[in-house]
Amino acid sequence: MAQADLMDKVVALAKRRGFIFQSSEIYGGLNGVFDYGPLGVELKRNIKNAWWQSIVHFRDDVVGLDSGILMHSMVWKASGHADSFSDPFVKCPACAKFFRLDKVFDELKDSSWFQSLAKSMATPKDEGQMIRWAKGPGKSLAPNLALVKDPEVTFSFIADLHYTFGGINLEFENFVKRLGSDDRGIGHIPCPNCGQALPDEGVAANLMLKTSLGPVEETAEKVYLRPETAQGIFVNFANVVDSTHRKLPFGIAQVGKSFRNEVTTKNFIFRSREFEQMEIEYFCRPEQASEAHERWIQDRLNWYFSLGLKQEKLRLRMHAKDELAHYAAGCSDIEYLFPFGWSELEGIANRGDYDLKQHAQFSGKDLQYQDPVTLEKFFPHVIEPSGGCDRATLAFMVDAYHEETVNDTLRVVMKFHPKLAPIKVAVLPLLKKNEGIVALAKKIKSELQKDTVCVYDDSAAIGKLYRRQDEVGTVFCVTVDVQSLEDKQVTVRYRDTMQQERIPLENLAKYLKERLY
Ligand code: GAP
Repeated sequence: MAQADLMDKVVALAKRRGFIFQSSEIYGGLNGVFDYGPLGVELKRNIKNAWWQSIVHFRDDVVGLDSGILMHSMVWKASGHADSFSDPFVKCPACAKFFRLDKVFDELKDSSWFQSLAKSMATPKDEGQMIRWAKGPGKSLAPNLALVKDPEVTFSFIADLHYTFGGINLEFENFVKRLGSDDRGIGHIPCPNCGQALPDEGVAANLMLKTSLGPVEETAEKVYLRPETAQGIFVNFANVVDSTHRKLPFGIAQVGKSFRNEVTTKNFIFRSREFEQMEIEYFCRPEQASEAHERWIQDRLNWYFSLGLKQEKLRLRMHAKDELAHYAAGCSDIEYLFPFGWSELEGIANRGDYDLKQHAQFSGKDLQYQDPVTLEKFFPHVIEPSGGCDRATLAFMVDAYHEETVNDTLRVVMKFHPKLAPIKVAVLPLLKKNEGIVALAKKIKSELQKDTVCVYDDSAAIGKLYRRQDEVGTVFCVTVDVQSLEDKQVTVRYRDTMQQERIPLENLAKYLKERLY
C-alpha cells in the first residue's frame, strides 16, 4: 500500500469509527485542534496508562506529578521560553498563508504544484514539457509562480541546473528558488500554495499562547498556556524532595496538555496546537548523567517495542552539535517511520543543570540538592525523556492498520497490542431473536465488564459484526449460539488469526485474562 494511501486510510478510519474528529467540525473546524471520540479516548488513555505504569508504578526511582497548565509568568522568563521559544515564519504576500522557514522546502516537495510539475517531466532540462506544464496545469495549481507567469524567461534561469526529479538531490533548494525567480534572475522561495515568491527573511513568532487571569481586561494578569509540562516539574523540584525525601538519582513524571501556536499544523495529530505530553525529568549527580542518558534511551525504545511497534519502523537520531540548545550535553530522538517519513516521536535530552539553576536565579530560592550523607550541595543534572501522546497514538494507529483479502472481500484490521486496544472483548449473539442466546450473551458481557472493556452487539449478522470489531482492533469476539445454551461453551475468535476455539463458560474469564494482560 502506498504510504500516502495508508495515511488517508488511517485518517478516514479514525473519523468513521470514532477515534479522532476535527475540533468544532460543525463550525468549519479549528485548525490544529482535535477531539478524541469514544474509541480514541480509550486508546489514548491506554497509552498514557501504559506509560504511567512503566515509568511510575513499575519503577522505584520515579514519582508522579500533575501541575497546573497555567503558571506564574516568571517561569517562562526563567526557562527562556518567553524570549526565545519561536519559529521564524514567512507569510505569502499573495495568498496570505504562513510557512515555517525551516520547513518550507519540505512543504514544497509535498506541494501539489511541485508534485504535478515533477510528474509531468521526464528530465528537468526538458524545456518543452516544463513550459507546457507552466501553460497548462501550472496555471491553476501555482498561478503566482514565476515559471507560470513568464515561462520562457524563467526557464532560461533554471536551464543550467542539474536537478534530478525523484531522488534526493542537493540542488533541490536552488532549483525551486529558480522557479520563483524575479525579473533579474534572482531566485526566491516560491509559496507551496500558490507559487508567489516568499519574503527572503523570516519573522520570529513566539509559540506560546496567552490568556489573562482576572475579571477586568485592563488589570488582568497575562499568563501563558504552558508549551511543555517540563517546567511544572522543575518548579516543584524542591517540593517533591522535601515532601518525599527522595535521594538522587530520581525522576518526576508528568502527563498533560501543552499548547503551542504552531505556524503550520500538519499530518493530522502529528503537529497540533493543543496536544498532550508524557515527560520525565530525571535528576542525578553530574557524573551519573551520561550513563543515565544512555539507559533512558534504551528504556524508552524498549517501551515502544513492548507495545508492538515494529523494530524496523523505529530508529534513534542523535542531534548534531548545532541542533542542541547551548546548555544541552546531548539529545537523541526516537523517530518513527510515519507514512510521511521518519519523524520525531520522543526526544531524550541531557539538559545539564540549566533549568534548576535558572529557576534558582529567577526565584531567588535555593534549589540545590543537599546530599544527606556528605551534606554537599549542588544542582543536579537532568535527563529529560519527553514524548508526545498524540504522536504515539498516531504511530500506534498507523502501525496497527492492516488490510487483507478474506474470501474475496477486504478485511481491515487494527492489530493493536492487547494492552492498547480500545475494546478488549465483544460479546455477540449468533441469533438476536433467540431470547435464550441474547440473555446469556448479555449475562456474559456484564460479568466480563467487571474486569475488562467489553461491548455487546447484536445489530448485524455475525460476519459483519466480526468485521466491525476487527476494524477497531477488538482483540476477542465471544459468540453465543444455540449450542452454548446446552453445552455451556462459547466460541472465542482471535482478531489477528481469526481462529476460533470453543471455551467452557467457567474458564472464559481466565482464558481471556491470560491473553489480554
Ligand atoms: N520539554 C521538552 C520538549 O517539550 P519537544 O521536542 O518540544 O521537547 C517533546 O516536545 C515531544 O512533544 C515531541 O517529541 C512530540 O512528541 C511532542 N510534541 C511537541 N510539539 C508537538 C505538537 N505541536 N503536536 C503534537 N506533539 C508535539
